[in-house]
Amino acid sequence: MSERRRQFDRDGFLVLPGFASPEACAGLVAAAERIVAETDVDALETIFDAKGQGHGRDRWFLDSGPEVRAFLEDTPEGPKRVNKLGHALHDRVPEFRAFSDDPRLDALVRELGVAAPRLLQSMLIFKYPRVGGEVPAHQDASYLYTEPVSVIGLWFALEEATLENGCLEALPGSHRLGLRSRYRRDGDRAFTERLDPRPWPRAGWRPLPVPAGTLVVLHGLLAHRSAANRSPDPRRAYALHVIDAETEYAADNWLQRPADMPLRGFSTPA
Ligand code: FE2
Repeated sequence: MSERRRQFDRDGFLVLPGFASPEACAGLVAAAERIVAETDVDALETIFDAKGQGHGRDRWFLDSGPEVRAFLEDTPEGPKRVNKLGHALHDRVPEFRAFSDDPRLDALVRELGVAAPRLLQSMLIFKYPRVGGEVPAHQDASYLYTEPVSVIGLWFALEEATLENGCLEALPGSHRLGLRSRYRRDGDRAFTERLDPRPWPRAGWRPLPVPAGTLVVLHGLLAHRSAANRSPDPRRAYALHVIDAETEYAADNWLQRPADMPLRGFSTPA
């Protein structure tokens, strides 16, 4: 077993600096900002409220699995700002597709135990200066559930992530504590089912400040979060989630792909 596999199994995450070049990071930022510029942000009705279930009934969110859609920050006053784009950038936007179809990622997730990788969802998270909100502690497997759990999050810092601008924070070893909740779809709605009422411990969280170009790999059961961006600098990041086709994808996950747009592996050509 490789050292990084041992580390991933022990901690539930890996920090791999220097994964993406400055040019690759800048290319994704430019592509994302182009999409935002082409979006009528003021017309977007949906507020993506990561803290509650405000989006649970919203088709804009629930049907975004195979699309590229913008979601707004939950800021009651002031101009509307985009919180994120999701959730099929890796399929629909050439720059993201090229970035995501990296044989190094294929090899990495296989090394970490994914037998048949499938690219499930992608997001560009903006965390704009002073408006980018917090993301409360959660496990990605709550949203992207397979039996057994297989989802791995690949989180790329496109800019330096710092303590001030809302870098990731992880709870090392929490991937061994079981799944705390599931976000389940019921037709046009979705709701959170609590499986374990215990709150996450207050102590033991590790902030992960990283330079631009760093890849942070997150086990699907690892508790992680990020604070609001209180700095004058943006903290844009790209997140790609991969599951194992040899597991059972939950029929009541919020994200459902239409039959004509099946999930693909890393190297399947367009
Ligand atoms: Fe997450």
